[in-house]
Amino acid sequence: MSDRSIPGYTLGEESIPEPPIGMEEFDRLKQSIMFTEDDEEHLREAGTVLEPQIEEILDLWYEFIGDHEFLLHFFTDTTTGEPDEEYLERVRSRFGQWIRDTCDTPYDEAWLAYQFEIGHRHHRSGKNRTDDVDSVPNIDLRYVIAFIYPITATIRDFLATGDHGEAAVDAMYHAWFKSVVLQVTIWSYPYVHDDDW
Ligand code: HEM
Repeated sequence: MSDRSIPGYTLGEESIPEPPIGMEEFDRLKQSIMFTEDDEEHLREAGTVLEPQIEEILDLWYEFIGDHEFLLHFFTDTTTGEPDEEYLERVRSRFGQWIRDTCDTPYDEAWLAYQFEIGHRHHRSGKNRTDDVDSVPNIDLRYVIAFIYPITATIRDFLATGDHGEAAVDAMYHAWFKSVVLQVTIWSYPYVHDDDW
């Protein structure tokens, strides 16, 4: 839910527009990804396992971005040509909250609306606005889609650190995978012509 201590994090706030799809269509999307109430439960369980490891997870993901200049590029301060450290830091704290929100099921209308907002924040219709930065205007959709794999594959070891058996870890892992696909699907909205989305 809304947490004003995280700069730029506005889930649940009135500034977030109504989502362009209703809960019924959202439900169809969930069905298409085979996302069920069991997955909601597995995600809640995942949340308890991941919570104490959030900083470690973010270290790993940020290391991955930092290791690839073409990815770090999207955090460039265009006035200096160097990575904008403050921008990276502010996004990092929202990314940590995103892990919590991904596990905080069931997803309600405010969550759905914020997914469209996150899509805009990757797209030229909203990137840089939240942190008032001079950075590259748009994250190419192909990289956002490609990231589904690293954001999913790397979570497995973190899920396995709890005292859950292999079947439970597997269930949490699949629920996470489905949620990331669900979210990136929604995030693609501003990149696609309305009639085609
Ligand atoms: C913002 C997650 C793909 C770069 C964010 C935020 C999250 C996130 C949670 C903050 C949302 C908020 O403001 O509350 C993800 C996930 C991805 C993905 C789960 C794919 C599965 C990418 C890729 C890049 C990228 C490929 C390129 C390096 C950024 C940048 C921002 C951002 C620059 C800040 C945008 C702004 O508000 O100006 N991302 N991201 N993301 N992400 Fe991603």
